[in-house]
Amino acid sequence: MKDRLVYMDNAATSWPKPEAVEEAMIRAMREAGGNPGRSGHRLSAAAARVVFDAREAVARLISAPDSRQVVFTVNATTALNLAIAGVLEPGAHAVTTSMEHNSVARPLRYLESQGVGLTVVETGPDGRVDAGAVARAIRPETRLVAMTHASNVIGTVQPVEEVARLCRQRGVLLLVDAAQTAGCYPIDVGAWGVDLLAFTGHKSLLGPSGTGGLYVREGVAIRPLARGGTGSRSELDVQPDFLPDQLESGTPNVVGLAGLAAGVGVVLEEGVEAIRRREDELAGRLREGLRAIPGVAVYGPPEGVEAVGVVSFNLEGVEPSDLGYILDVEYGILCRVGLDCAPWAHRTIGTYPRGTVRLSLGFNNTAADVDHVLGAVTEMAAEARREGKP
Ligand code: ALA
Repeated sequence: MKDRLVYMDNAATSWPKPEAVEEAMIRAMREAGGNPGRSGHRLSAAAARVVFDAREAVARLISAPDSRQVVFTVNATTALNLAIAGVLEPGAHAVTTSMEHNSVARPLRYLESQGVGLTVVETGPDGRVDAGAVARAIRPETRLVAMTHASNVIGTVQPVEEVARLCRQRGVLLLVDAAQTAGCYPIDVGAWGVDLLAFTGHKSLLGPSGTGGLYVREGVAIRPLARGGTGSRSELDVQPDFLPDQLESGTPNVVGLAGLAAGVGVVLEEGVEAIRRREDELAGRLREGLRAIPGVAVYGPPEGVEAVGVVSFNLEGVEPSDLGYILDVEYGILCRVGLDCAPWAHRTIGTYPRGTVRLSLGFNNTAADVDHVLGAVTEMAAEARREGKP
């Protein structure tokens, strides 16, 4: 039992990656080792094909009308910074929510110090933002609403479609942070009318770290974060004005993108709906099981509020860091503890500054994994009671 390894830190990064991902990366290294879009030889063309295939795969996954609207970055944080800094300027106003990760909170706070107005719409402890409250925070000078699709702390899914509709009515751009949903929750940027959507490649898309990107709706004016070589319009002193080149300077992560394309391929083959159903069932089992253990507090959405497979809890009288350590060393359960780079969200749910123990489900988890965790927490709770912890 104790030799068993149960990985439940998929909100930090998914593991293990499918074999197809490893194989695609090795193949790219061996067979597509040129610089894409720069030279004309066969290895350069093969690398360009790898990047193109990755773009097409992501576009299909999120229903982007054209894969040129998918811009690759090194992670979701860079994509979010690109979107936020690319559309806001001093004098403009932005709206966000109290459930954001630091990758949205920090760039917005920085821009606030540079003269951008900012309104943070508070949610209740279930983490679900009221779309009407977001709409009411919009002012004449509001340029951007930036919000997470699902919380990386408690999994709550936000009413993105409704917010998108309200943003469209008011002529405001909507940026969605899909770090916790791309690959495990259906996304349709076209039908929803989302303007900008940031994703990471290394979580539910099952790709390697160092991959991610930004979907940019056609016609959205956005300034690049970096300018430089694109392999296109090399005669110009200025950045090309077409996507994806306008927002992609420098040699891309070809090997990483080969892995990303393979990861998305696995997701598409399995089907996002099927992945969603499986993870939702496991998350329900986990939440319900944890709630039944004396001394355990489970945070987050009650029945009926949609959530992805991210579950946060605490055990009365025990520090989350101690719990995380024992789960790893004694039970082989790997998870994240503390603030999850999301102090705003922890303030919102009432767990700041201590944080929680966060269990996050992924593609490979099973009901037996969940039961192993429940058994471990039951034993730890009993031990805490024996030691007289409240
Ligand atoms: N943003 C990632 C997390 O929530 C790394 O753990």
